[in-house]
Amino acid sequence: MNINENYLNLEQSYLFSTIAKKVIDFSAKNPDKKIIRLGIGDVTLPLCKAVIEALHKAVDEMGVQETFRGYGPEQGYEFLQTAIKKYYLKRNVELNINEIFISDGAKSDLGNILDLFSKENTVLVPDPVYPVYVDTNVMAGRKVIFSNANRENEFLPMPDASQKVDIIYICSPNNPTGAVYSKEQLKKWVDYAKSIKAIILFDAAYECFISDDKLPKSIYEIEGAKECAIEFCSLSKTAGFTGTRCGYTIVPESLDKLNKFWLRRQTTKFNGVPYIIQRAAEAVFSESGQKEIKENIQYYKENAKIISETLDKCGIWYTGGKHSPYIWLKCPNGMSSWEFFDYMLNNIQVVGTPGAGFGKNGEGFFRLTSFGSKENTIEAMERFKKLFKI
Ligand code: MLT
Repeated sequence: MNINENYLNLEQSYLFSTIAKKVIDFSAKNPDKKIIRLGIGDVTLPLCKAVIEALHKAVDEMGVQETFRGYGPEQGYEFLQTAIKKYYLKRNVELNINEIFISDGAKSDLGNILDLFSKENTVLVPDPVYPVYVDTNVMAGRKVIFSNANRENEFLPMPDASQKVDIIYICSPNNPTGAVYSKEQLKKWVDYAKSIKAIILFDAAYECFISDDKLPKSIYEIEGAKECAIEFCSLSKTAGFTGTRCGYTIVPESLDKLNKFWLRRQTTKFNGVPYIIQRAAEAVFSESGQKEIKENIQYYKENAKIISETLDKCGIWYTGGKHSPYIWLKCPNGMSSWEFFDYMLNNIQVVGTPGAGFGKNGEGFFRLTSFGSKENTIEAMERFKKLFKI
């Protein structure tokens, strides 16, 4: 037996597990201190009414002989695929039902999709970025190279014609920086990918935070993208499904083999998302569901505003928070990301995410999320102002 030694090339633990452990250790030593978590991007508002009603109804159906369901289609029920198809049509993106694959979330699919690609492929990942892209490729032993995202390019790196790669990751709105590509910028990525016959893996998990109609929410709003891109989306941040688990991946039929292989992969290794969860997801796309989730997103956006205004007052540089739940700030007083993490935890018990955990270019930066409750966000910012003597 030979084990996959590529795992030895990973960081010892996943970024958010490391943070959780540090917080647990701190609270064990300081049980009386109230910790405010603005670290992992986990939602705090409950599921909206339309979703809860759909869940109850689906649960009842499962208890009745005539409406009970066993195994469903691995790629998802048609009722949910149709709801997603209509959602895309609002942005003039036409999808066929068999291009839409329902899953338990974008994180799983972003990792699982790699089953379709040779280990010999070279992967291009922006730095900093969501650690799952790098880790899943390291596990498979693929070569990963980086495109630098930094203050100079407003954390939106553009293609470099001298880089010959096979798989390109793009996350827009970006986790962790909150930066969003314009249509013109994405078009350059699409043209580049096509010119070198690469595939783009487009992570659209935060699309619902885009509030400017001119900015693209889907890569398929860009001409030619169906010939070179797979899109991942999730209801986690859109509709508070972080614990409920449902997402979807679009693999265009024009990618021929990839569409067929993904179906083959899913039918073999996956048994689909539970019926009741898919009914809940369908409700997200209903008229009342859309109205209710927009109110929740607005709530988080107001939290982002509270954080941004505090940083403005403290004279701390930041970006994001506008079309994204994340605020990406420069650690004050030249502190490193982890130094600032400890400084915040020890002094004001506010937890954020060290930028260095997202890549080397994240060093010296720090991410705060707007997914906390309004009360906690206000309290965290009051503590922040005191720490910085404002
Ligand atoms: C994050 O905080 O970056 C996200 O919550 C992680 C995730 O979506 O898996």
